[in-house]
Parts: sequence; structure tokens; C-alpha cells
Amino acid sequence: MVVSYSHEPFTNFKEENNKKAFQEALTYVNTQLGKTYPLVIDGEKVETEEKITSVNPANIKEVIGYVSTVNKDLAEQAMQSALKAFETWKKWKVEHRADILFRAAAIIRRRKHEFSSYLVKEAGKPWNEADADTAEAIDFLEYYARQVLTLKDGSPVQSRDGEYNQYNYIPLGVGIIISPFNFPLAIMAGTAVAAIVTGNTILLKPADATPVVAAKFVEVMEEAGLPKGVLNFIPGATPEIGDYLVEHPKTRFVSFTGSRAVGCRIYERAAKVQPGQKWLKRVIAEMGGKDTVVVDKDADLDLAASSIVYSAFGFAGQKCSAGSRAVVHQDVYDEVLEKAVALTKTLTVGTPEEVSTYMGPVIHEASYNKVLSYIEIGKEEGRLVAGGEADNSTGYFIQPTIFADVDEKARLMQEEIFGPVVAFSKARDFDHMMEIANNTEYALTGALLSNNREHIERAREEFHVGNLYFNRGCTGAIVGYQPFGGFNMSGTDSKAGGPDYLVLHMQAKTTSETF
Ligand code: NAD
Ligand code: ALA
Repeated sequence: MVVSYSHEPFTNFKEENNKKAFQEALTYVNTQLGKTYPLVIDGEKVETEEKITSVNPANIKEVIGYVSTVNKDLAEQAMQSALKAFETWKKWKVEHRADILFRAAAIIRRRKHEFSSYLVKEAGKPWNEADADTAEAIDFLEYYARQVLTLKDGSPVQSRDGEYNQYNYIPLGVGIIISPFNFPLAIMAGTAVAAIVTGNTILLKPADATPVVAAKFVEVMEEAGLPKGVLNFIPGATPEIGDYLVEHPKTRFVSFTGSRAVGCRIYERAAKVQPGQKWLKRVIAEMGGKDTVVVDKDADLDLAASSIVYSAFGFAGQKCSAGSRAVVHQDVYDEVLEKAVALTKTLTVGTPEEVSTYMGPVIHEASYNKVLSYIEIGKEEGRLVAGGEADNSTGYFIQPTIFADVDEKARLMQEEIFGPVVAFSKARDFDHMMEIANNTEYALTGALLSNNREHIERAREEFHVGNLYFNRGCTGAIVGYQPFGGFNMSGTDSKAGGPDYLVLHMQAKTTSETF
């Protein structure tokens, strides 16, 4: 019997032995930099001349690795490989598929700090954020392996006299898995293995900024016993190749996590039935957020300030769940703002290789420029009360930035910035708080800090987001505990790490036999 699931604990870096072990892993990963990584198609390693140069966003002169890039012919080969492998993989016993995930989880757990070190180097994650990303990847493997076992005999349905009805889940086919840079291990691995463990075969396209950690994960899946052709690794696919695969008549489903613009494009293109296509494609699209931390007048104000600050600036605000808006009751607005500014000024910004660093760089130049352009917009729309400075002499560093007195409809309050910037808006009363909280096109996460039971219960109904938290920040969902996904323009609410997630990768077949 499989032991019940519980999430992977986070590492306590206050303990000297953990600190030392992590430092050793970083030193080891430093010896691995600059290697080349191939595509993997039908189990074969394919080196291409054209390569992505993956760099350290905290030190842009440092190359993490060179990763082969797929072209259209190779993408087609990957599709053919996945189609062929599907014919056998779909017949594998569910338990045997699950065992591969359990084994992969064990391998990553043994090499946990090594994986986290790649995240420090390639994504600019501080130690604790990198550790959480690796833990979440392990959680997805452990959780989905268990979940699929609960689905293997289907779901119960009624039968009448002389009749035997069954309701079983079968795989879909070939899926295209497209992942973002911000959880380069957890989301990439989680979306890939959910598709695989349910009997599908995939083409996996990691984010261009973080392909090395994805390549290391693909090695683990091979070591764990995944047969060739089930996971085809196609880094470097350009948007044109992305379009080609999304529109491919043999693509059965697309599982995308990333920005709203790309998600909407995929959704639209996947909807068009192509010549030779025999099904309607399924699309999972988990997209952006403009998430709000709401502070009621009777809240614990220290907790409120720290919830705002850590939700806004964890991983430099580069989380879809980041709290980039603070909506505070007018009676406590000045006090909460003052506390948030004071706390923000204590945050350490610098190289994520130091355990003491709270916030590292943003991911790349385009992101750096985008965030700076929003800081300029913020200067027009609000009052700069913390941060605002930036430095790209070695990496893409931006100070944690707070704008006060921002109008609820201002761009800073409506558009996803995806960087360390939070806007404060003042609310008249609880009705007004809920109105502002729901006034964007997104609806991913949110938090309410309140000690008013009536307001908590009202928010439970009225605060329209996929993940709502009370008396804490709005980031840090745990697999199997807080299934994660948003409403409205935040996506299809597929709830990663939840009990309904795997069936999205399957179709149900009813059989009815009469005796
Ligand atoms: P992005 O949309 O720029 O890229 C995501 C992936 O899509 C990358 O692998 C990219 O190469 C690929 N891509 C780009 N154009 C494509 C095309 N035409 N066809 C197919 N693939 C294409 O996003 P990003 O900058 O990597 O990540 C940040 C975004 O992701 C933010 O908006 C964030 O909110 C969102 N995100 C959402 C969730 C969620 O669960 N809702 C989780 C993490 C990140
Ligand atoms: N799962 C991540 C969080 O909740 C995105 O912050």
C-alpha cells in the first residue's frame, strides 16, 4: 500500500548543516556550468548547431549552459515519436506509470539541493525560493502518482438488473506542454508528469530563460525508467514552432502556463479544426494574475504589512500569485503603509547565491525594461515611497518598490507587471474593498487580513479568485493542500495539484453490457 501523501518539507537554512549542504551543492553546480544539453526525441539525444545560451540573471556574464534548439523538422519528428510511443504507453498499467513518478521523486529528493542550486543560478531564485520550487516539483510527482491510482478503476456508476455499466478514464493522445520561467522546475515538471502519468505522450517546451534545469529533469525521467518517445524534449521552439505544434492536426491537447497574451493566442489557434484533425483539442491555459492583499480596519497590522511585503517581493514579484496590489481600509491605511515601507527597507537585494539575500534579480533584460517602464508609469499614477532604483551593471536588479495612493483603476492597479512593484490603494469600507479586489480582468489569488468574522465569510463568497487566503499572504500554494488556478483571464482554472487535475488529461468512456 502506498503511504499517504504529505508535502515535502522546506529546508531550514538557519541550521548550519543545511546551510553547508546547500553551499556544497552550489559549489558542485558551479563545476557543471557551460555544458551543452541536447533535445531528446524518441529517446535519442539530438544536438543542434543553434543553441540557447542560458545565462545567470544575477551575473549575465556567467553561462549556465548551452541548450540545443528545435526546428520545424525536428518538431515534426518529435510529434511522430510521441504518436508512436502513445500506442504502447497508453496500455501500460497505471501502477507502473505511477512507479516512474515515485522513482523520479526519490531521485530529485536525493539531489534536492543540486536542483535548487540550478534554480539559484539559472532563474536567480534565492535559496528558500529555490528550495520551495524543488519541493513543489517533488510534491507534484508524489501527488499525481497517488492520484492516478485512485482513477485506475474509473468512477462508480449505477447498473440496473441484467446490466453491467462501467465508467473508465482513458488517455487523450499527444500533448504539447509549454511552461514559464518562474517555476522552471515545479510547473515544468508538474504539467509534464500529469500528462504522462495519465497515459499520454508529450512534447515538452520549457521557457527559453530556464532550459538547463528542464534538461536535468528530463535526465531524471529517463533514469526513472520512462520509455523512449513518451517525453520528447524540445527547448528553443520559437513562437512560430509553437504555433505549428498547437495547430498540428495530431495534437490532442495543449497544457500551457504563462502569460495571458500567449495563452489567449494558443486558446484561439487550438480551437480551429485543421484538415485531417479528428477531435476538438483540449486546452489547459493557466495565465497571469493581478493579485490583491486586502486589509480590513481591525486586522493585525504587523501581519498585514508583512503579508503585503512578502507577497509582493518574494522572487522579485515574479509569481503569478504575487500580491501586486494592496487595498487598505482608510482607517489603517497610513499605519499599514508605514509598516510596509519600513519592512521593505530591511529586505536584502543582491546575488541569490548568498543565504542572506531576500531578493535576487528579475529574469532578463526584457523583464528589467518592462518593470522600469512601470516604475515610470507609477511615478505619474502614485507616490513613490520605497525603492524605484535599479542596476543592470552585473545582473537585472530592481529594488523592491512601493507606490502609495494609486487610483483603483490606474494601470499600476490593473496590469500585470511581474516584478517587485506593489501599488497601495485606499478603500472607504468593506464594500469598497471587495469592489476594488474584483475590478481587474484577472482572478487568480487574493488575501484578506481581517478579524471580522462577517467580513471573512462575505469575502469567501464575494472575493472572486481561484485561490483565496485569510490572514496570510497570497503566494505559496502547496500541492494537494491548496490546489492552484485562477478564474477569468487568469486561465482555465485547472487547479494544479488538486483532485480534479489529472482527469483533464483523460477522457471518460462508458461501457454498458447487457446480460
Ligand atoms: P510567456 O507567456 O512569455 O512564456 C510561457 C511559455 O510560452 C514559454 O515557454 C514561451 O517560450 C512559450 N511561448 C511563447 N510564445 C508561444 C507561442 N506562440 N506558442 C507556444 N508557446 C509560446 O510567460 P513567462 O514570461 O515565461 O512566464 C510569466 C507569465 O506566466 C506571467 O504572466 C505569469 O503570471 C504566468 N504564470 C501563470 C501561472 C498560473 O498558474 N496561472 C503560473 C506561473 C506563471
Ligand atoms: N504555486 C505558486 C504560488 O502559489 C504559484 O505562489
